[in-house]
Amino acid sequence: MRLSLITALSAAATVSATNLFVSDYSGTVTTFALTVNTTGSYTLNQTFQTTECAPNPSWLTVDIDRGLLFCLNEGLNSVNGSLSSFTINRDGSLSHVKNETTISGPVNGVIYGNAAGQRGIALAHYTGSAVSSWLLEGGGKFQLNQNIPYTLPKPGPNAARQDAPHEHEAILDPTGQYLIVPDLGADLVRVFSWDAQTLVLKALAPLVAAPGSGPRHAAFWNPYAVTGAGSPTYFYLVSELASTVTGYSVTYLPNNGGLNFTEVFKSSTYGLLDQPAYNAPAEIHVTPDNRFLIISNRNNTSFHLPEPNGSLLPSDSLTTFRLLPDGTLAWVQIWPSGGMYPRQFSIDGTGSLVAVGNQNSQNVVVLARDVSTGLIGEPVARMGLPGNTTCVMWDEWNA
Ligand SMILES: *[C@@H]1O[C@H](CO)[C@@H](O)[C@H](O)[C@H]1NC(C)=O
Ligand SMILES: *[C@@H]1O[C@H](CO)[C@@H](O)[C@H](O)[C@H]1NC(C)=O
Ligand SMILES: *[C@@H]1O[C@H](CO)[C@@H](O)[C@H](O)[C@H]1NC(C)=O
Ligand SMILES: *[C@@H]1O[C@H](CO)[C@@H](O)[C@H](O)[C@H]1NC(C)=O
Ligand SMILES: *[C@@H]1O[C@H](CO)[C@@H](O)[C@H](O)[C@H]1NC(C)=O
Ligand SMILES: *[C@@H]1O[C@H](CO)[C@@H](O)[C@H](O)[C@H]1NC(C)=O
Ligand SMILES: *[C@@H]1O[C@H](CO)[C@@H](O)[C@H](O)[C@H]1NC(C)=O
Ligand SMILES: *[C@@H]1O[C@H](CO)[C@@H](O)[C@H](O)[C@H]1NC(C)=O
Ligand SMILES: *[C@@H]1O[C@H](CO)[C@@H](O)[C@H](O)[C@H]1NC(C)=O
Repeated sequence: MRLSLITALSAAATVSATNLFVSDYSGTVTTFALTVNTTGSYTLNQTFQTTECAPNPSWLTVDIDRGLLFCLNEGLNSVNGSLSSFTINRDGSLSHVKNETTISGPVNGVIYGNAAGQRGIALAHYTGSAVSSWLLEGGGKFQLNQNIPYTLPKPGPNAARQDAPHEHEAILDPTGQYLIVPDLGADLVRVFSWDAQTLVLKALAPLVAAPGSGPRHAAFWNPYAVTGAGSPTYFYLVSELASTVTGYSVTYLPNNGGLNFTEVFKSSTYGLLDQPAYNAPAEIHVTPDNRFLIISNRNNTSFHLPEPNGSLLPSDSLTTFRLLPDGTLAWVQIWPSGGMYPRQFSIDGTGSLVAVGNQNSQNVVVLARDVSTGLIGEPVARMGLPGNTTCVMWDEWNA
């Protein structure tokens, strides 16, 4: 359901709900209804749960316009992973369509292709050192299109984590013309175009990141909300091993030839604070108002949010930066994420709620956010999961 909270709050005497889909490593995908009552109090209620993406769901790609959900099983203790599809029912429950074995360790996926024609889903395989692509055939059906395995001639500077290429995310550029895949092991951000008919991916010149930095996740920003060659485009890369965010000015090369990246900014993902090493930043998103950037930091539990019973439990953090027209970032806030290891978070369509998946706390925490100042605030709802949280998605626009 596409639901504006402003509508919800002004519709006196009605109780409105939006759904959150959450995956966790114990094998479950759970639907929660987030309800707000007339006095603005929120409730998170579990309405559905499935183990049909077992054993280790790592990522959810929601195709809200077509009522589909794709779930990746990382297969932590098996040779292979898998891709599962579901239809999303009106009540937020999921009906399983298909499960296919994949190269090992898929951790992220994105739908690409022709919105009105042939579409596909591209997956980033962390353990399997590969990108795969699958043709979507409607109603949640799909079939393998392409496996692209990668190797490293020699380990990277961080030998423990850079033993091999580790594809970590798959996103599109703002025009939907290129597939972008940060590779934590190879210190690259891979760039692909594709054949319009077959959706077969074609590798173009990658962005070469700093040695040992470990590119993980990234986000694009168009300051004037206009995409394409004629308007400014920036790219923000979170590097997990260096704990940095790097901003690049992006230009479009002619003849669908790829992207050219010029570094314009670099900072610790903590911003103004002293750079703590090993804070292992994970997720990054531009907010729906197009003015702020939020990054999750892990592995440093020196932050606290009071629990409902008043006790202070250790927490990792979210950093908010303001996006400036020249592509640089201005630090705004660092704030507790509500648990340990915020692997991923999603912002709702209004920008007023941030749902955080705290992996090692096995929870989802929904934090209030002031859209005008960009400041994240108190939790409005929390919920425990049966296993380590890997992904949380709203059933609407997702960032
Ligand atoms: C809204 O929910 C809160 C917390 O559950 C409760 O205290 C309050 O009475 C509710 N208000 C209405 C109007 O239902
Ligand atoms: C949420 O669940 C609780 C306990 O099961 C129940 O009392 C409450 O009515 C539910 N709220 C909504 C909005 O469904
Ligand atoms: C899906 O496929 C994977 C890989 O073959 C397998 O391990 C898993 O058990 C399957 N999941 C379900 C729910 O059938
Ligand atoms: C499963 O993993 C093995 C070993 O990595 C690989 O050779 C095989 O192609 C994978 N199966 C599929 C269907 O991707
Ligand atoms: C990329 O941009 C730089 C300027 O930042 C320029 O020197 C270089 O020639 C460009 N590369 C391509 C392939 O156009
Ligand atoms: C954790 O973050 C705090 C606040 O920035 C910092 O003072 C501290 O040194 C960090 N600790 C570690 C172990 O990185
Ligand atoms: C977490 O921090 C410790 C040192 O405090 C470091 O040894 C470890 O590698 C870090 N983990 C990650 C995932 O960065
Ligand atoms: C308070 O609640 C947290 C979970 O939210 C729990 O871990 C902690 O033990 C509780 N503390 C007390 C004193 O009950
Ligand atoms: C799961 O979380 C626990 C802490 O609750 C942590 O020790 C463990 O490493 C985590 N495992 C994975 C695979 O996320």
